Amino acid sequence: MKPYRIETTCVQGGYTPKNGEPRQIPIVQSTTFKYDTGEDMGKLFDLEASGYFYTRLQNPTNDYVAAKIAALEGGTAAMLTSSGQAANFFAMFNLASCGDHMVASSSIYGGTFNLISVTMAKMGIETTFVSPDCTDEELNAAFRPNTKLVFGETIANPALTVLDIEQFARAAHAHGVPLIIDNTFATPVNCRPIEWGADIVTHSTTKYMDGHGACVGGAIVDGGKFDWMAHKEKFPGLCTPDESYHGITYAEKFGRSGAFITKCTAQLMRDFGSIQSPQHAFYLNLGLESLHVRMARHCENGQKVAEFLQKHPKVLRVSYCGLPGDKYYERAKKYLPNGSCGVAPPAPPTGR
Ligand SMILES: Cc1ncc(COP(=O)(O)O)c(C=O)c1O
Repeated sequence: MKPYRIETTCVQGGYTPKNGEPRQIPIVQSTTFKYDTGEDMGKLFDLEASGYFYTRLQNPTNDYVAAKIAALEGGTAAMLTSSGQAANFFAMFNLASCGDHMVASSSIYGGTFNLISVTMAKMGIETTFVSPDCTDEELNAAFRPNTKLVFGETIANPALTVLDIEQFARAAHAHGVPLIIDNTFATPVNCRPIEWGADIVTHSTTKYMDGHGACVGGAIVDGGKFDWMAHKEKFPGLCTPDESYHGITYAEKFGRSGAFITKCTAQLMRDFGSIQSPQHAFYLNLGLESLHVRMARHCENGQKVAEFLQKHPKVLRVSYCGLPGDKYYERAKKYLPNGSCGVAPPAPPTGR
């Protein structure tokens, strides 16, 4: 069967009801699940069988929605988190720990900048910030032997800079590390970073994905392409036994397609517990069903607002990559041919 178009995936992805089953995804509002024997339960706990035993780790409603987001992004596995902040923290902390280093675009959401430059720094993880418009030389110079990942946003909030995803992916891979892209503003309707070389994609689903201002949430998607074992000295958390989880070696047991999300769930969700509630996942799914229709309208509105502001006598300058002449117009034509997003901030006199 041909893969669904993105519009169809928004509606049908992640959940395929069988004859007589509910059309909408069921909300499994249960903390725990029933098993007849301790052995059944033990197999789940040891990741020897797939299924559910405690909602902090996995829940069917969340899994349907995560599978839809994985399909939308063209990834192999995904998980939901309680917020976009949790998604970005988990995605980075799944790879970097005390004594490690990261490279990040300097043009990112302020909350993520704080997370990286203050809180993760306190945890002993250092970051070098680079301009999203840096040269290859400047980008390569930011790496250190202990660099574990590169981070950026497709369209940065609020500066609306557009990242050259291919350039950042090339540099990350040349240094043996993955590229994590926060795709919140573009959504997979307008850009699928994995197709441009990104390895992990994150979302604040609070924004366009939910789309109704109803639920704070986040998601992490693994593209399933990064070869952890080829860089095993850099990623001991994925490539050596996890003594806190019965000695499992995630990259061996779950391969490229499943290791990242399984480790993130089994370790970080277990220990930090930032799970999205099944009720919120249900609302998020309703938002996703109309994402393809809403994004087109958001872009149309954003374009009109940007054009209006551009002509307004009291506005000095507008940042919007859909405006011919904008610094990111050409890059947006490549990465965002169908539109960018609905945010069109009037730039202050000293802005870009
Ligand atoms: C690009 C981006 N990433 C992450 C976040 C954080 O998401 P949340 O507010 O869902 O925690 C935001 C929030 O505005 C954002 O714009």
